Amino acid sequence: MGDTIERTLVLLKPDAVQRKICGEIISRFERKGLALTALKLLALPPETAAKHYEEHLGKSFYPALIEFITSGPIVAMVLSGPNAVKVVRAMMGTTNPVDAMPGTIRGDYATVMSSNIVHGSDSIASAQREIAIYFTEQELVQ
Ligand code: TYD
Ligand code: MG
Repeated sequence: MGDTIERTLVLLKPDAVQRKICGEIISRFERKGLALTALKLLALPPETAAKHYEEHLGKSFYPALIEFITSGPIVAMVLSGPNAVKVVRAMMGTTNPVDAMPGTIRGDYATVMSSNIVHGSDSIASAQREIAIYFTEQELVQ
């Protein structure tokens, strides 16, 4: 495995926007060496949220997840760099902030799974699928 340049989709969830910590979180990704390739603030329509989280349809937490992710504006971005998918996941920390290590984003900023600040694609295939939900090819700048 070489150090392939990858693109990954990151969302700063409504709790991050509401708490005004988007800049801090984006700074972490920039300091790590990832490149901003696309960036927007948006209110996620419920249909788009359903498309994003289609793998979780039918699970007990699904209704609350859709309710939460559509509860206020989010920031969507594409980050790129060597091994970007795994690097972002490592920086995010575990899904449940109770277990997330200090120094990770969820470990430093979140306490509960239902509002855990950040989304990052979990594979290259997921990244390709998710990027296309939020951005056109023309919006991917580098
Ligand atoms: P998941 O894709 O499993 O986690 P991740 O965001 O780390 O890829 O789940 C999507 C989101 O759903 C997760 O960030 C928070 C929420 N969620 C719950 O509220 N309860 C749960 O038990 C799980 C697994 C997830
Ligand atoms: Mg996931």
